[in-house]
Amino acid sequence: MYPLIRNRRLRASESIRRLVRETTLTPDDFLVPLFVTEGKGVKKEIPSMPNYYNLSLDLLEKEVKELWKMGLCSVLLFAKVEDELKDNKGTEALNPDGLMQRAIKTVKNACPQMLVMTDVAMDPFSSYGHDGIVAEGQILNDESAEILAEMSVSHAKAGADFVAPSDMMDGRILTIREALEDEGFTNTGIMAYSAKYASAFYGPFRDALDSAPVDIANVPKDKKTYQMDYANRYEAIKETQMDIDEGADIVMVKPGLCYLDIVREIRNDVDVPVAVYQVSGEYAMVKAAAEKGWLDHDAVMLEQLTAIKRAGADIIASYFAKDFVRNIL
Ligand code: PBG
Repeated sequence: MYPLIRNRRLRASESIRRLVRETTLTPDDFLVPLFVTEGKGVKKEIPSMPNYYNLSLDLLEKEVKELWKMGLCSVLLFAKVEDELKDNKGTEALNPDGLMQRAIKTVKNACPQMLVMTDVAMDPFSSYGHDGIVAEGQILNDESAEILAEMSVSHAKAGADFVAPSDMMDGRILTIREALEDEGFTNTGIMAYSAKYASAFYGPFRDALDSAPVDIANVPKDKKTYQMDYANRYEAIKETQMDIDEGADIVMVKPGLCYLDIVREIRNDVDVPVAVYQVSGEYAMVKAAAEKGWLDHDAVMLEQLTAIKRAGADIIASYFAKDFVRNIL
């Protein structure tokens, strides 16, 4: 008699589907990105990221308490820097009383157990919107890595648990690790944006932080000389292995959905946790289509988040974290 094996038996009811489901999500999977800004009582919606906000520190305090209650225990901080504080060397990034440093302390005071990761990058502090120093038509590598190391130490001093360099300069993980060790921050971790692609999906984020590269003579107005070419796969493995060798505790692939082949490959290849960043443009697309009534917001969100985890993500940095807890759990 044919067929003896009927796969549909395992799909016959929601109960059996739940019993055999291979991939499930919990609040523990999420790292919540947060944007902070100067001022008081400021909760400014990012135009291309509906229902996502730039928060002043008083409201950041409220937000992290709410996240903690929802079971979301890890945040990734980004600072929106005032224009007049920006320069080519990102000097403001090293200010011990800068916005990022105060934001770290705010979170730790509000919620001491909340895991605090910080974006370590020059672009929000750079008058040119680049992740490195611009000189003679180039984005300088080693000089920029030194600044990133100082920035990391400054974040560690303010109380960050992990620093997350997102720049893609060569050798920066080693430079940062050595600086942290030298300053006694042996327990401060590094989450490396290891396979970070030069992606058009970062558009809304650059709106949020006003950090897009600007026009400068003889310098490309994009990040393709440091972020990876999205046509490449082997290079992602090489970048990731090098970051691990240099001391990264966690590696990351970014963006998410278009790069799940890379996620699986890296997950198969390494023995450290792998994070995936579902970036601003991915969030914006779902929100926009849902607003038009063209897609079912929650269903598409859950499908995408599940796909990211199924591909091999141990950690998901996502603007959907709260939506997931509120609408799905
Ligand atoms: C800064 C940084 C970017 C993102 C995270 N850190 C933007 C960029 O590299 O231009 C993008 C995050 C997102 O789009 O959600 N180096």
